[in-house]
Amino acid sequence: MNTSTNIIWHDSAVTKKQRQSRNNHKSIVIWFTGLSGSGKSTLSVALEKALYEQHIQSYRLDGDNVRHGLNNNLGFSPDDRKENIRRIGEVAKLMVDAGIVTMTAFISPYKADRDDVRSILEDKEFIEIHTKCSLDECEARDPKGLYQKARAGEIKEFTGINAPYEAPENPEIVIDTEKQAVDEAVEIIISYLKNNLYI
Ligand code: ADX
Repeated sequence: MNTSTNIIWHDSAVTKKQRQSRNNHKSIVIWFTGLSGSGKSTLSVALEKALYEQHIQSYRLDGDNVRHGLNNNLGFSPDDRKENIRRIGEVAKLMVDAGIVTMTAFISPYKADRDDVRSILEDKEFIEIHTKCSLDECEARDPKGLYQKARAGEIKEFTGINAPYEAPENPEIVIDTEKQAVDEAVEIIISYLKNNLYI
């Protein structure tokens, strides 16, 4: 709900288009979604490095990191996850306005919440990437030991165990992290960005 009243938008004298043309690339959101342990953080870190090396202005927002600061008042109920994703979406939109290729790595389990972010951005500014990985494999990886805790009943509402994950129906890119190596996945994403004239 919007509770801000009597506020008036103030435009900058520098536009998003000008920033993009100075940078020589578009600014977009590359939105990773997938189960915990499916490879969102790993892949987005590798992609960020590859983009940086190609002189592309880029920045990464990551679930665990953002929850340490901006969203440290939010838990994992459906409402809190919705608010988490809404805020990240708004931050990502500001970063797109600033001319930056912005990567986000959040479980973002609800389709409606991800679609809401897509809808506040302009056409083609939102690239959804599903890091597809079976629950069995995520659980076997269990890099943070959280699946084990969830199975032991120590974490309530853990995605995949006792909270839902709604996979995207029509993502721009699917990376099967059980089959594709990180370098290979980065190549696929960079090729997509080049073929679609983003970078
Ligand atoms: S989201 O669902 O709101 O998008 P987000 O990506 O920010 O989640 O945070 C997920 C991270 O928080 C996981 O990688 C894990 O480390 C941690 N976490 C702690 N509790 C939970 C939980 N109940 N469900 C999922 N992840 C959790």
